Amino acid sequence: MSPSCDDRRVSTHTALVTAPFRGEGLDILRRLADVVLDPWINHTPLRILDGEKLAALVEETGADLLVVESDSVKGPVLDLPLVAIGSCRGDPNNVDVETATARGIPVLRAPGRNADGVAEMTIALLFAVNRGLVRADADVREGAVDRDGTIPYQRFRAWQLAGRTAGIVGLGAVGRATKWRLEGLGMRVIAYDPYAAEATHSLDDLLAESDVVSLHAAVTPETAGLIGTQQLARMKEGAIFLNSARAQLHDTDALVDALERGHLAGAGLDHFVGENLPVDHPLCAMGNVVLTPHIGGATYDTEANHSKLIAEGLAMLLDGGRPDNLVNPEVLDG
Ligand SMILES: NC(=O)c1ccc[n+]([C@@H]2O[C@H](COP(=O)([O-])OP(=O)(O)OC[C@H]3O[C@@H](n4cnc5c(N)ncnc54)[C@H](O)[C@@H]3O)[C@@H](O)[C@H]2O)c1
Repeated sequence: MSPSCDDRRVSTHTALVTAPFRGEGLDILRRLADVVLDPWINHTPLRILDGEKLAALVEETGADLLVVESDSVKGPVLDLPLVAIGSCRGDPNNVDVETATARGIPVLRAPGRNADGVAEMTIALLFAVNRGLVRADADVREGAVDRDGTIPYQRFRAWQLAGRTAGIVGLGAVGRATKWRLEGLGMRVIAYDPYAAEATHSLDDLLAESDVVSLHAAVTPETAGLIGTQQLARMKEGAIFLNSARAQLHDTDALVDALERGHLAGAGLDHFVGENLPVDHPLCAMGNVVLTPHIGGATYDTEANHSKLIAEGLAMLLDGGRPDNLVNPEVLDG
């Protein structure tokens, strides 16, 4: 059956999408533009484009809309006649926003796209650390359920989480998504965030009161190294430390020391400076520490969420509107 007149659409835009893009957002984008979908995630070895290679791809595809996640929208790509740029990240630090603004190109971002994913990962780390899941799994696999004359019950007792206090440092998108999950576990949740009205604790009081401290702040000059020797010393004896945000927020040597001395019961970490730890790092030898390689936001829903946020933003922009996730609204005032 041939399409009816109403079904026929002649796209006036071409969108080059190098981000993973799926779901309702992709449907919306396909109604706005001819879509060239070439996500970095499908490339092995890893393909992250610099400004020159991205410019060449934009020119080759004739795109006037550009949607990226990790590729660098800097330099020559900003000399091209782009109508809009979508960065599928909360912080569009892969885009030279200043130059885009000077060229009058709107830049969209995707705030909170991975908040639920990171919050779920935080809860996973909490359970894994508190109940020794990784060690317990290894014992079963190694046929070493009984070790050194002990049965598992002797080695794996833990305090339950219900009824205890969790302290959240940074009550943004991830912090809020983590808060209700912890409350759902029966925990009392307190928070420190100088920029969030609902966060009513000072950092010192939060550290002193919490059985679990979980970091969810953005890295800024103010928060880099926020948790050091003094702050760890303020934490309760036997508390658990979680950082599913960024390793730059804590002093790793001080954390190792607090764990080695037994001041903290354990830690769960989803990020390391340089994205990796040397295999001989002291953290790697600690059975009470669970380490994951920056996978908090690695869910298909993160991709569906950023796709919807960017596609809806583009639709609004092309319709003459001013989307909330526009980073440089001043370009619309010119
Ligand atoms: N592990 C992962 O895969 C993953 C994925 C996404 C985000 N993250 C990280 O998680 C963290 C939170 O991300 P988000 O999306 O919720 O960001 P967000 O911008 O929504 O929230 C950050 C919060 O930090 C707060 N903050 C700023 N200065 C502070 C200070 N001095 N003390 C305490 N809080 C302060 C802000 O007020 C804000 O509420 C970031 O560090 C981000 O990089 C990790």
